[in-house]
Amino acid sequence: MSFKHRSIIDTIPSYKQGKPAPKVEGQRSFKVSSNENAFDPLPSVVKAIESHALPHLNRYPDMRGWAVVERLGEEIGVKPENIVLGCGSTEVITQLVQLVAGPGDEVVYPWRSFEAYPIIVAGAGATSVQVPNLPDGSHDIDGLIDAVNEKTRLVIVNNPNNPTSTSVAAEDARRLMEAVPSDVLVLFDEAYFQFNTDPNTSVAMDLFREFPNVVVAHTFSKAYGLAGLRIGYGIAPEDVIDGMRKVALPFGVTDVAQTAALASLDAYDELTDRVKSIISERNRVVAALKKQGWDFPEPYANFFWLPLGEKTDAAAAQFLAAGLSTRVFSGEGIRISIGEAEANDLVIDVCSKLKAAGF
Ligand SMILES: Cc1ncc(COP(=O)(O)O)c(C=O)c1O
Repeated sequence: MSFKHRSIIDTIPSYKQGKPAPKVEGQRSFKVSSNENAFDPLPSVVKAIESHALPHLNRYPDMRGWAVVERLGEEIGVKPENIVLGCGSTEVITQLVQLVAGPGDEVVYPWRSFEAYPIIVAGAGATSVQVPNLPDGSHDIDGLIDAVNEKTRLVIVNNPNNPTSTSVAAEDARRLMEAVPSDVLVLFDEAYFQFNTDPNTSVAMDLFREFPNVVVAHTFSKAYGLAGLRIGYGIAPEDVIDGMRKVALPFGVTDVAQTAALASLDAYDELTDRVKSIISERNRVVAALKKQGWDFPEPYANFFWLPLGEKTDAAAAQFLAAGLSTRVFSGEGIRISIGEAEANDLVIDVCSKLKAAGF
């Protein structure tokens, strides 16, 4: 960059957004690259936006999002003072990192994981300490514990982990909490928790009720299908929430997003049915791929991970040619979202051809 700027910015990797569906002559193509909910928006949510939010577009939103915060507080069983909204949980995580970490401070997290973490940490001027996942794609809990030192300001756990879709066991999360000093915050990023069917999974809210240093990040983007509206929330001790609110983007969460979130909470049963059907599609894809002979981590989110190593780029080209944009991590693997049944059929078909070709 030719202008005076913070040199740490030069170290920040640019966020790579999932590519749109490719154009393939004569056939339908699909975007399975961003872990979105493939269902169309709920009619009740669209109607609520039209009647309650659109008429007030000339007004600023309620900065604190009080109606949503109170409602979430009732449903989760915490005080409104324990909840903060953000423009997606990405902003919630940004608020937290801005609050606790700056130059000279360290943020410990598993890697590979959500690719916004290094961007957010570097943006705060702090240092990322990335702890490689175990060969099965799951968090190395002992590695995370060992990485904590006097410079550590935050430890992040991603359950289920993006992109490996692995779940964190309850006893592992507890072991981590018992090892981390109580004045160091531990963030449980549970963006996909509604899809997590692991009977032994850690539930961050249980830990929140027991330990003083737990922060939980949830989102309306995935199970609730509101990725385009940008609304997520953090649950934390009151003083942490106070601090997060100070660094939150003022008026960041729009009235359209708040209205849609409330309407989505009203439509909980309908949305839960959608989550169930995504899980059942996931099970169908996993069973088909296992039958084809693929070996990959059992997925617990709305996506799965194919660890293809050096064959990643060649496989990605095949998905693209078949009309599927996937999320490609060159040299590591491919993350594929569970999409419409037709998209999932196509994924199964491409995987079968790849297997036959020796992948
Ligand atoms: C692990 C994880 N956390 C958080 C997010 C952020 O989602 P949003 O900002 O849409 O709430 C994502 C999005 O892909 C994610 O994968």
